[in-house]
This record gives sequence, C-alpha cells and structure tokens, in this order.
Amino acid sequence: MQYKLVAIDIIRQQKLSIIELNMHNKPLNRRFTAAPMMEWSDTHCRSFWRLLTKEAVLYSEMVTTGALIHGDRKRFLEFNLCEHPLALQLGGSDPKALAECAKIAEDWGYDEVNLNCGCPSDRVQNNMIGACLMAEPKLVAECIATMQSAVKIPVTIKHRIGIDDMEDYEGMLDFVRTVADTGCKTFIVHARKAWLKGLSPKENREIPPLQYDKVAQLKKDYPELEIIINGGITTLEQSLNLLNEVDGVMLGREIYHNPYLLAEVDQKIYGIDKPIVSRDQVIEGFMAYAEEQLAKGIRLNYITRHILGLYQGLPGARRFRRVISEQAHKPNAGIEVIKSALKALNEIPFTHELTD
Ligand SMILES: Cc1cc2nc3c(=O)[nH]c(=O)nc-3n(C[C@H](O)[C@H](O)[C@H](O)COP(=O)(O)O)c2cc1C
Repeated sequence: MQYKLVAIDIIRQQKLSIIELNMHNKPLNRRFTAAPMMEWSDTHCRSFWRLLTKEAVLYSEMVTTGALIHGDRKRFLEFNLCEHPLALQLGGSDPKALAECAKIAEDWGYDEVNLNCGCPSDRVQNNMIGACLMAEPKLVAECIATMQSAVKIPVTIKHRIGIDDMEDYEGMLDFVRTVADTGCKTFIVHARKAWLKGLSPKENREIPPLQYDKVAQLKKDYPELEIIINGGITTLEQSLNLLNEVDGVMLGREIYHNPYLLAEVDQKIYGIDKPIVSRDQVIEGFMAYAEEQLAKGIRLNYITRHILGLYQGLPGARRFRRVISEQAHKPNAGIEVIKSALKALNEIPFTHELTD
C-alpha cells in the first residue's frame, strides 16, 4: 500500500502516464539506463547488472523484425523476471512488421519497445535499419505510430544527432519534431553524428565528436519530451551533472567494462537510502545465478564473459580475468572456475602489481 502511494507520487512528479507502470507496478524511470549492445547486453549480462542496480532501466540487444518474425523467438526474447524494468530494442523499417514485433514484445512481458535509428553498420543500412533512417523522418514517424497503435507499453526511439551531411542542429530538430508529432515522448540521443560511409560501427562510436550541447538544446526546445543523453559518459558524477540538463542518461561501454559503477546508481541517481552492495555480495549472487544457468545446460563462458571487469582497478583484477578467460570456455567448466578466479584475485600481490 505504502509502496503504491510512493509510486503514485513519483508518477505525479514526473508526469508519467499510468501506462508507464510496468508489470511490477513500478514506474519506468529512465534517469539511468543501460545501453542496448549487440553481443553484450544479453539476458546473462542484464541479470548480472541487476545484482548491482534494481532501478536502472535495461535495454536488450537489437533484434531485427525479420529475426523475431521468422527466427527462434524464444532465443531472442527470453529473460529473467529480475531484469525488469526492461526494454526490447527493435531494428527495422517496415511499419507493419515493427508493429507485429512490438506486440510480441509486449505479450512477452517487456516494459518498453525501442526503435533503433542510431546503428551505422553497413549490414543494417542495406536492410534500412538503424542510423540511415534519420534521413527518412516521415517513414520513422509512420513506424512509431503503427507500433504505438499495436501496444500499450511506451514506444521510444534511439538516434544520433545527425548523419552524413545532416550537419546542423535543425536537421535533428526536424527529425525529432516529425517523430514527436506521433505522440512519441522519449528520445534517447547518442550525442554524436554517424558517418554512414567510411567509418566502421566501432569508429562511429569514437571518431565523430561528442556534442552534448545539442542534446541539452533539444531538451530546452522540447521541454515536454523526455530526453535521454548517451555517448562517452564514464562516471556517476558526470551523469548527475548531465541530469541538470536532460531527463536521463544512458551508459554503455563504461558499465560493461567497469560494472561496479552500477553499485551506486540506486543511491546517487535515484536517491534511494540503502547500503551499497559489495563486490563479494555481487559475486555470491552471481554464483547462485550461474549455478541455475549451468543446471539448464548453459555454458559457463556465456555467463561469465560479462563479469570480467567486476574487480577493475583493484589488485588482482587481471588475475581474476585471466582465470575466467582461460578456463570458463572449457567443456564442463563449472562454478569452481569462478572460485579459482576469486582465489587468484586474493593472492598476495607482487610488489609491482599493486593495481591492475
Ligand atoms: C558492442 C556494442 C554493441 C552495440 N549495439 C547496439 C545496438 O544493438 N543498438 C544500439 O542502439 N546501439 C548499440 N550500440 C551503441 C550503444 O548503445 C551506445 O549508443 C554507444 O556505445 C555509446 O554509448 P557509450 O559511450 O556509453 O558506450 C552498441 C555499442 C557497443 C559497444
């Protein structure tokens, strides 16, 4: 009862609609979000992150409409209940197929569906998926509107500040205005342009300069929209500074390589009064999770590859990573690999190896 009142209070403060309540009656609060990352933000990674933050909204890897409609649906969609609040990111540009997939996501229990308009890889461009769609605002608006009419959960979008010769702020503004006219409220903006020709996806995450000012300006021009900023954020202090200008932050690479950053998200970003979980508690919870997954026949390295950075910056972190990297892929590798890695972590360090 008390929890519900708190939830209603948060909804009032944030002017969220009742639809934004997920199946746990918890409002979707995107002050801190974990980025969609192909090959990285899978169900095991997200379940691990949940040992560190209960509040952050987590995004899946991108799933294309073709894969979802014709492929092994269970493989792409399966998740653990602890992963809520959880968004599914879709890749596609056919309004009907996207609407069908949005409905599938809602029925499966996802709390939000997000359309990828930011990924610059050649493979996706050839299929009219990702950042190339920024050149087609009307088509994107049609996609979003059709998805919205198929589901009750929020339909959101992730895009760049521009592509190729879409140089100036006006280009992005026009894109956002056209999409916002459908009623779409949440825009996740990767604060750099994408070059569709000549740069690899990795280079497109590093070379085009970050322009946070353009995202802050977008929030000023559209105060009624929820604007989430993404790209190059590496600390909670930086996140808090950015939250003075926009509604939410999205972090990707930093939380993957240094996941313990997530341990203070609930306290520092969401203002929740609770103790900070220790790395020991996290690894204990993770071993229980790994045991469950091993019992289902999942190979150890599918699960442990996401925890390599847990001890980043501490003495022994390299030894921890090495044991897992060298042993977790072996046939029949079990929980003892994680125990050996912990033992290696806690060995008395050589004098030249005080930190990694
Ligand atoms: C390995 C990897 C895979 C990614 N896959 C996706 C994806 O599927 N969908 C997407 O919108 N962005 C994807 N991205 C981009 C991230 O979501 C994010 O926008 C980008 O990494 C910038 O944020 P960061 O500097 O916090 O990492 C990917 C990034 C990485 C590193």
